[in-house]
Amino acid sequence: MAENIYPIFEKMLQREDREALLKQKGTMIWFTGLSGSGKSTLAIALERELYNQGVLCRILDGDNIRSGINNNLGFSENDRTENIRRIAEVSKLFVDCGIVTLAAFISPTRAIRHMASEIIGKKDFLEIFVSTPIEECEKRDVKGLYAKARRGEIKDFTGISSPFEAPEQPFISLDTSRHPLEESVQILMKAIMPKIR
Ligand code: ADX
Repeated sequence: MAENIYPIFEKMLQREDREALLKQKGTMIWFTGLSGSGKSTLAIALERELYNQGVLCRILDGDNIRSGINNNLGFSENDRTENIRRIAEVSKLFVDCGIVTLAAFISPTRAIRHMASEIIGKKDFLEIFVSTPIEECEKRDVKGLYAKARRGEIKDFTGISSPFEAPEQPFISLDTSRHPLEESVQILMKAIMPKIR
């Protein structure tokens, strides 16, 4: 497939040049957890706090990406893998720009998250496990999807009829039912800022 393709990366300005310009290190902050666990809420609040500290960020999140670049993908294992593969490739471009990139996707299996970290580069990849228990996610049911999944109206629903494998060694675990949002953001900031500057 790569036949007759000649990348010209070495002629371009390098990542270090852009990082020096921005005075920050390109970093991938990868949130994983069940639907309704609080990934997007945390990413949005963290982005705001990083922005207040002068850090340039970009959030990629499930519902936005799935209505754009990945609007041809569903929730089979293959489609989820392709979803995350494309997101990881796009994220890699952002990280290479020196941008602190926040991804909020269920990314349900160890294999899927491993693939993402391989594409992006392990040293730039910070895995944040949003460990809110399914009982709490289902109680919140912000989008009404757990109710639909229980009625059998959505198939392959993560946590109900499709697996979620908890990360074994996440950079941070956060249960949003145990901490107010502000406190969670402070926990994240304390751990992440030293990696960025
Ligand atoms: S992932 O598994 O491929 O990483 P992603 O984060 O992009 O999932 O999308 C998850 C969002 O899609 C959920 O928050 C929910 O709003 C919606 N969704 C629709 N169908 C499903 C399903 N079968 N399983 C999980 N989420 C679903």
